[in-house]
Amino acid sequence: MKRTLLIIAACSLMFGACAQKTNNQTAKESSNMTKTLVAYFSATGNTRAAAERLAKETNADLFEIAPEVPYTEADLDWRDKTSRSTLEMQDKSSRPAIASKCDNIADYDTVWIGFPVWWYTAPTIINTFIEAHDLGGKVLNVFATSGGSDVKGSYNNLKAAYPQYSWGESRLMN
Ligand SMILES: Cc1cc2nc3c(=O)[nH]c(=O)nc-3n(C[C@H](O)[C@H](O)[C@H](O)COP(=O)(O)O)c2cc1C
Repeated sequence: MKRTLLIIAACSLMFGACAQKTNNQTAKESSNMTKTLVAYFSATGNTRAAAERLAKETNADLFEIAPEVPYTEADLDWRDKTSRSTLEMQDKSSRPAIASKCDNIADYDTVWIGFPVWWYTAPTIINTFIEAHDLGGKVLNVFATSGGSDVKGSYNNLKAAYPQYSWGESRLMN
């Protein structure tokens, strides 16, 4: 008798857990709501302002791709052949460290990746961000600000570097 009661209790616990899981899955599957993240790097504020506009427009969360070591004005001097940004952009394998990762990246279906165009492409800190996260199964869109260069070159370079991901649209937001 005691054994029978124990079996019934165990079965109802198991059944209850499965039913709850199924309900959650059904709720997610029947929902058309997609969750969007706007992740951006900005050295002097232009891309940050664009990211804030985009996040409002797309009802997205914002994540700043912050460098572990912030860029100084001297670091950003593109006329200086020895400045940090020049050296990083000349070295395709450079991966400037980021201050933090986006811990809940798994929650998002769409990720907008934004940056200032540097030397006609995305700063290598964007590679650091991409390589630090699992972006599989998401739509990756790209946006950028620049002094005049288009975003298409940067977009094509990222697409070629990470063909395993699904790339969507690109937007220049000057
Ligand atoms: C190192 C460096 C390289 C740049 N290279 C380009 C470029 O190739 N083409 C361009 O149009 N603008 C270029 N710019 C200008 C930036 O893309 C532009 O000012 C951008 O809006 C800055 O964004 P931020 O304020 O978010 O850092 C460069 C700026 C820096 C600092």
